[in-house]
Amino acid sequence: MILQEERAGPPRPEEDVAIRLDRIGLRYEEKIVLSDCSVDCKRGHVTGIIGLSGAGKSTILRVINGLRHPDAGAVYINGDDITGWDEHELIEMRKKMGFAFQYSALFDSMTIAENVAYPLWEHTTMTRAQIDKRVSDTLEALGLSEVEGSLPGELSGGMQKRAGFARAIVNDPEIILFDEPTSGLDPIMTHIIVTTIKDIQSRLKATSVVVSHDLRSIYALSDTVAMLFEGTIIESGTVAEIRRSPNPIVQQFLQGSELGPIPL
Ligand SMILES: Nc1ncnc2c1ncn2[C@@H]1O[C@H](COP(=O)(O)OP(=O)(O)O)[C@@H](O)[C@H]1O
Ligand SMILES: [Mg+2]
Repeated sequence: MILQEERAGPPRPEEDVAIRLDRIGLRYEEKIVLSDCSVDCKRGHVTGIIGLSGAGKSTILRVINGLRHPDAGAVYINGDDITGWDEHELIEMRKKMGFAFQYSALFDSMTIAENVAYPLWEHTTMTRAQIDKRVSDTLEALGLSEVEGSLPGELSGGMQKRAGFARAIVNDPEIILFDEPTSGLDPIMTHIIVTTIKDIQSRLKATSVVVSHDLRSIYALSDTVAMLFEGTIIESGTVAEIRRSPNPIVQQFLQGSELGPIPL
């Protein structure tokens, strides 16, 4: 009986789990980055992942997106384990995901409108008229209509971030991954970006994962917060639950204190 259960593998995640990382292990050469790392992201929710610089937050997003293949464990997207998928299947999957990169990653020589249109030309069979309409609607929703003809280098950091978001969501993704959406921004632009992500979330009803070490933004955005430390999720819960976590590592991180169990 036990053998049969083993052959059947772990059960599929429940319907309301859009993303499940199940005991992920991942190393870069000698360095272990993720180890026995598990997290569930609920459909329609924002999951915030916090952790020190170098903790592996960006790596988690790359694993979810299929850009990095884990050495151990399973990655379920909408119930399917994607770890065995080939590049063709992953490309199909990525059409339903938007990835807002930390450094916007816009094409310098293309206008904002051309940048935002790019995924539609690449991944859909939409006509030029349909693309133009979708791009202008998306730019308008993000307050970027006036800069549609500008080059990325002509915009402020906050505007570039928003243009990166526009490109990530233009395809109406089911899942949106935000890597450090507020890093390097002043408090006012941070507020605008947080509000923008909330707007996107309520408009698209997507499942979002936001990784950041900016606690205020994470508190403002997240339905669930998970803390990554030494390659694994050591705590997860609502914002209130995380804030009153009895785990001294979590408390030290949240308080930004140099005193505590975290090795400096
Ligand atoms: N391409 C790579 N090759 C080797 N090491 C890497 C690579 N990408 C990331 N790392 C290492 O993996 C660890 C986690 O990186 P990352 O996921 O970028 O952390 P975070 O986003 O939390 O700052 C870091 O120690 C980093 O140096
Ligand atoms: Mg990172």
